Amino acid sequence: MDIDYHCKQYVKAYRSTECFVGWLEKLGYLNKSVQNICDMACGGGANIAYMGNRFKSSFFTGIDLSDELIEYGNKRLEGRNNCRLYQGDWYNLDKKWIGKFNGIISFQTLSWLPEYEKALNKLAMLNPEWIAISSLFYEGDIEYIIKIKDYYRPSANKEYEEAYYNIYSLVRIEKCFNQLGYSQFNYVPFDIDLDLPKPESLDIGTYTIKTEGEKRIQVSGALMMPWYFIVASK
Ligand SMILES: C[S@@+](CC[C@H](N)C(=O)[O-])C[C@H]1O[C@@H](n2cnc3c(N)ncnc32)[C@H](O)[C@@H]1O
Repeated sequence: MDIDYHCKQYVKAYRSTECFVGWLEKLGYLNKSVQNICDMACGGGANIAYMGNRFKSSFFTGIDLSDELIEYGNKRLEGRNNCRLYQGDWYNLDKKWIGKFNGIISFQTLSWLPEYEKALNKLAMLNPEWIAISSLFYEGDIEYIIKIKDYYRPSANKEYEEAYYNIYSLVRIEKCFNQLGYSQFNYVPFDIDLDLPKPESLDIGTYTIKTEGEKRIQVSGALMMPWYFIVASK
């Protein structure tokens, strides 16, 4: 596990986190009222720390598969009384979470799961008023199932690390949410407003390329990263 990825977000939140949270605030989903918010696949909890600071009246619950990250995160969140992390599997969530959240947010994880239908269904089963996700999406009706074998990152029993980098169709995602009872759907591309330097290594790692008109394209390895923020509500 790349613990550094989780640590450095505590020092400075990613620009994508600031912009996603700002977008949800502008739409009124995150606000100064008392709310219970879940961060699904919260990693080491840095996004929860950021939101807990920005929305002090709300309570933030993080859920992640990794015991190690939950332990690390809860240590870092000690003393913050509106943030707490729990170990759990997105695909096999404890029934105690049903009806507990006004909203569920998931930062940069859906595209790294094998699929989206079952994943969204599991979130809807908790019956939140709204679900917000940042990931890779395409506005057209095409889904890209992308699986990488990263030989820069050998794992315990393999020469490489395997990961998905799926790009889901926003048309299909909206239909899926509709079928789950979430009839309002909003999305926006995340056009990053700062330059990210190209890493020296050819391994995965996001950097930006400036195009004509000052728009930046985000790239990681061989892929263009079409980041979007989405939110679906009842
Ligand atoms: C790319 S990281 C994103 C972490 C965090 N949301 C962030 O933005 O920093 C993906 C996270 O998903 C978690 N994860 C993967 N599969 C999961 C599952 N089935 N249930 C819960 N968490 C899962 C991993 O442990 C990891 O922390």
